[in-house]
Amino acid sequence: MVIVKNEKQIQAMRESGRILRDTLLKIEEFIKAGITTKDIDKFAHRYIVSRGAKPSCLGYMGYPASICTSVNEVVVHGIPDDTKLQNGDIISVDLCVLYKGMHTDAARTFCVGEVSEDKKKLIEVTKQSFFEGIKHIKAGSRVGDIGEAVQKYAESFGYGVVRELQGHGVGCQIHEDPGIPNFGKKGTGEFLKEGMTIAVEPMITMGSPEVFVAEDGWTVATDDGSMAAHYENTLLITKDGVEILTL
Ligand code: MF3
Ligand code: CO
Repeated sequence: MVIVKNEKQIQAMRESGRILRDTLLKIEEFIKAGITTKDIDKFAHRYIVSRGAKPSCLGYMGYPASICTSVNEVVVHGIPDDTKLQNGDIISVDLCVLYKGMHTDAARTFCVGEVSEDKKKLIEVTKQSFFEGIKHIKAGSRVGDIGEAVQKYAESFGYGVVRELQGHGVGCQIHEDPGIPNFGKKGTGEFLKEGMTIAVEPMITMGSPEVFVAEDGWTVATDDGSMAAHYENTLLITKDGVEILTL
């Protein structure tokens, strides 16, 4: 069921989104070679709590950490551990913040030290695919409009678009209806209404789009070991466009 948010809920999501955005900026400054993904998890947890909010991935369906840290060929939902980041790695950080009863969800892919040009390009194209996806979106648009735009853009660079995971409604819960695939056909799928809040999150690979879930039940990685990037924001659908809440 799609939940259209009222003004009070939207205001809470704006505040939640600002805390999430600030957390990602702090994490970006914190990341360097030699630290572990657990260090980032602890750092993020402390920061979010200091802002009076909650990291809402923690405990979600049994998820054991406050953030997801997905290094190199890991696409999403990597669990923070004692692995040290190395110069040249790329790391996607994905998290949800709960504030005044409302969740927001966002992700970025960061570089560790000196990163190769091809990895930098993957990160840039993944980010731009998000903006292509939401470019013409407003109340009355359809979910397939986003999917087609993301897919066309990412595939024009020869990249793979992960199909098994998708964006989603967000706000009262981390995951709400509708699902927002990163592929598809414009003019198809659910209609977007004013007051809906959704997370749009392209997951793009340098090689094959096929992925598998590791034995821990969470970590999603590329089948062919190719690098993956993730870019996500929570946005509000308005009469004439969108308002990005986590930027
Ligand atoms: N942004 C992630 C998603 O939409 C957050 C999931 S919560 C976690 O899948 F428990 F998986 F961390
Ligand atoms: Co999400």
